[in-house]
Amino acid sequence: MRRTFWVLALGGLLLGNQAWSQECSLSINGNDQIQFDKKELRVSKSCKEVTVTLKHVGQLAANVMGHNWVLTATADYQAVAAAGQAAGPPNYVPAADARVLVTTNVIGGGQETSVKFDLSKLTAGGDYTYFCSFPGHFALMNGKLIVE
Ligand code: CU
Repeated sequence: MRRTFWVLALGGLLLGNQAWSQECSLSINGNDQIQFDKKELRVSKSCKEVTVTLKHVGQLAANVMGHNWVLTATADYQAVAAAGQAAGPPNYVPAADARVLVTTNVIGGGQETSVKFDLSKLTAGGDYTYFCSFPGHFALMNGKLIVE
């Protein structure tokens, strides 16, 4: 009886962990055609920490076809994209700007990067846009992060 309890408890823990890691890790690809492969990413508000992994599946170098993943409130997205362009290389993100909620560094073809962030600073149902801040990319490379 007691043993059965522990087996069930351990099994539940393992399953719970698996579900946690699937829901709380997001991945997205960028290519040489200035595109992300997803227009929307979803994450559960129950995640404490979220990991976003960006993979550049193209071949062009970071200085000509660099990609990053920047998250802002949708209302801030265009202004931050402009500020990022003004900030310049290598990462095209304004320094110490509270509107930038999350950002990865810029990567080139064949590279991968990831960023971990605390989901407590985002609100369920909030309007968030992710985009690439490399010059000229934000209008094509963007999508919504949905916290549910
Ligand atoms: Cu880009």
